[in-house]
Amino acid sequence: MKGVILAGGKGTRLSPLTKATNKILLPVYDRPMVYYPIETIVRAGVRNIIIVSAREHAGNFINLLGSGKEFGAKIEYTVQDEPRGVAHALSVAQDFVDGDDVLLNLGDNIVLDDISKEAKKFTGGAMVFLKKVKNLSAFGVPVFRGKDIVAIEEKPKRPKSPYAVTGLYIYDNTVFDKIRKLRPSARGEVEITDVNNLYIKEGTLRYSFLKKEWSDAGTFESLFETSEMMRKIINRDKRQ
Ligand code: DAU
Repeated sequence: MKGVILAGGKGTRLSPLTKATNKILLPVYDRPMVYYPIETIVRAGVRNIIIVSAREHAGNFINLLGSGKEFGAKIEYTVQDEPRGVAHALSVAQDFVDGDDVLLNLGDNIVLDDISKEAKKFTGGAMVFLKKVKNLSAFGVPVFRGKDIVAIEEKPKRPKSPYAVTGLYIYDNTVFDKIRKLRPSARGEVEITDVNNLYIKEGTLRYSFLKKEWSDAGTFESLFETSEMMRKIINRDKRQ
């Protein structure tokens, strides 16, 4: 399995913080945001990681992270020339993934769970990770029939379940064929939710729940709250 971290996109929601730098290089309390997805992927037992960023930020990621040695990982870098959506950014990593399965972590998603069991048990299809949240209309939200997810709706006005689909996904290598079949959505982006819906149609999407804290640090409020959350957790761990 290979790890992919997405750090492309326009970052408009955090402007002017993101005028001269990348959202994923911004601080979350005492470290750059990108440390979290790297640690989540390494904790899952995956050591070969690629960071997909916009051209103007690729050099900053290399300066910060180098070979990845200090994380016990091997990190490579590539560029998404235009911000054409999350699924499009993933497709840029196809050569690096080279036929393997993919553990995808959106760069602004802080996941503290250990998902090494899910990664080890993965035998194809797709796996999404759900978390109960309040501001559902900012996320992909699953529609359940019994225990099965029958669809995922992207940023629904009337969410049909209390769970967000978090920005952590495991895919088999057919994900790249699926992305090629997709057209951009109304917001002009090739959506990861459309990819997940193709797996649902195929009957191969599974899910698991995150137990620890989770955050999407992509807005002013959530970036601030995530820093507070991590400050509490880091100080608690220090005391213990
Ligand atoms: O946080 C989880 C949510 O992430 C999911 O619930 C949604 O289903 C999923 O669509 C996504 O929604 P967002 O609106 O939060 O995605 P955002 O546009 O913030 O992009 C997520 C990350 O992906 C972002 O940190 C940078 C990267 N990205 C984004 C785009 C649009 C790229 O690398 N390239 C891109 O073109």
